Amino acid sequence: MPDVAWVDGWKGSLAEARISVQDRGLLFGDGVYEVLRAYGQRIFELRAHLQRLDASLRGLRMSLPLAKRSLATLLQEMVEDSGYAQARIYLQVTRGAARREHLPSKRLRPSLVVWVEEAHPSPVAMYRRGVSVISLEDPRWNRCFLKALVLLPNVLARQEAHKRGAFETLLLGPGRVVREGAGSNIFIVTRGQLRTHPLTREILPGVTRQHVLRLARDGGTPVREARFRYATLLGAEEVFLASTAMEIMPVVKVDGQRIASGKPGVITRELRRRFAESTGQTA
Ligand code: PDD
Repeated sequence: MPDVAWVDGWKGSLAEARISVQDRGLLFGDGVYEVLRAYGQRIFELRAHLQRLDASLRGLRMSLPLAKRSLATLLQEMVEDSGYAQARIYLQVTRGAARREHLPSKRLRPSLVVWVEEAHPSPVAMYRRGVSVISLEDPRWNRCFLKALVLLPNVLARQEAHKRGAFETLLLGPGRVVREGAGSNIFIVTRGQLRTHPLTREILPGVTRQHVLRLARDGGTPVREARFRYATLLGAEEVFLASTAMEIMPVVKVDGQRIASGKPGVITRELRRRFAESTGQTA
């Protein structure tokens, strides 16, 4: 089945989708994006993704070239057209295409690109055993709360993780505060309490992060959105990553050091089970 794409009103297969070489997304990374998942053709947390898209657009002084409701309908139609039960949706809005000048012209029309492809979740064994991560100093700008296209630091951080045989890179702020992963949010469990970085300029407000917090609260697990340092991470009872692509991924090693027993923890496994339930899958 071909992956389906939509580019400013054009609809067709992903392989045939085209944008201008003068698109500011290509030239400057001048745009924003979202990655969504559909489970059984139902888009997961659609509202939350559209709300974050809105916030990212406002942060770049841009607007959606389509009514929010029309976009939601378009996404659902495309998921159905693709026929994929487990789908990944990529959505991008750039400031448009024009002669290359840093200062964007007021006449620019934003460009919207969407495609739907089959989701490729990580192997089950990774979730059972847990993964290794490394850490690096966070080199990013001070607007990490915007889901902007400029992802070079994230790409390089992921490349470094791969080079060292790890799954993800954790990005550390001053004082070795653990912020988030290159493409995921991070959670730890200390004395039975779940903790994650608060929503500040330094992290992306992950949709999965918010979903996990809700699952934990509903399940009676104490939750705190508070900063924690690298030393606290190493001494944690449990560690896991959360993102649209990873869902809830247990972490058992950080920079070669084992976390607790070196196995995915009880709270992590329980949250994973409840996450699967909430998306209509069986764990
Ligand atoms: N990445 N933090 C960063 C820096 C991210 O890039 C992502 C997501 C997250 C988790 O957000 P969410 O739960 O909304 O997926 C946190 C996406 C999946 C990507 O760039 O591919």
